[in-house]
Amino acid sequence: MTATVSEGVHDTSQIPAPEGSVTVTVKLLRFNPEVDSEPHWESYDVPALPTDRVLNLLFNIKNYVDGTLAFRRSCAHGICGSDAMQINGVNRLACKVLVKDLLAKDGKPTTITIAPIKGLPTMKDLYVDMEPFFEAYRAVKPYLIAYGNEPTRERVQSPADRERFDDTTKCILCAACTSSCPVYWADGSYFGPAAIVNAHRFIFDSRDEGAEERLDILNDAEGVWRCRTTFNCTDACPRGIQITKAIQEVKRALLFKRV
Ligand code: SF4
Ligand code: FES
Repeated sequence: MTATVSEGVHDTSQIPAPEGSVTVTVKLLRFNPEVDSEPHWESYDVPALPTDRVLNLLFNIKNYVDGTLAFRRSCAHGICGSDAMQINGVNRLACKVLVKDLLAKDGKPTTITIAPIKGLPTMKDLYVDMEPFFEAYRAVKPYLIAYGNEPTRERVQSPADRERFDDTTKCILCAACTSSCPVYWADGSYFGPAAIVNAHRFIFDSRDEGAEERLDILNDAEGVWRCRTTFNCTDACPRGIQITKAIQEVKRALLFKRV
């Protein structure tokens, strides 16, 4: 969907302005499937403290100006991965971005643009359909696969073996990586970086016996070879996961048939 240029401006005088707040213009890409044929920009002048998160601004707009504004969030503390969105053109979690880091220099007026993440169908405003993302996630079998008899005690692992996949355990499935990937934008059938990260988490786990199955899946035409190493995914990840490195490790495991 392409955004139209029309820009609504709203009365935001009901939003409380705490002492020390500055007014920032929040430009939201809005889309209501019941009335709009295309997304369009709407602007809201919002009082904000430098210590506010972008999520606070969205709540103020929703609570005081337009209750129909749709966006996802749950924990508000960078843990659940619900509120990935494009903030000033880059994928970020709205609950982790502080207003002070977006303020224009020298007291000039600040505009913050917020749009839904790309590559997934927009259902309403900033709220996207995550199902294609989770479908790719499920396809790589993101769970421990172990054959043989149930062990009578826990499956032990050395600290060094645990370290091999430590980075990829940090994923919170926010989709910031996959939805910043140009290969995924061009062809949604690519598994995408998040699915590969979650496959990596089990492929390199010494307790797991499903590496071969997962590598077969990722050797597919829509698999790991589609990655063009643009690093967008690594830049976007709010958990700082070295995604491109993880993808390279999966490629190497496929090439050398060794995990
Ligand atoms: S790898 Fe990072 S950006 Fe991608 S889904 Fe996981 S936490 Fe989000
Ligand atoms: S609301 Fe949970 S990560 Fe932002």
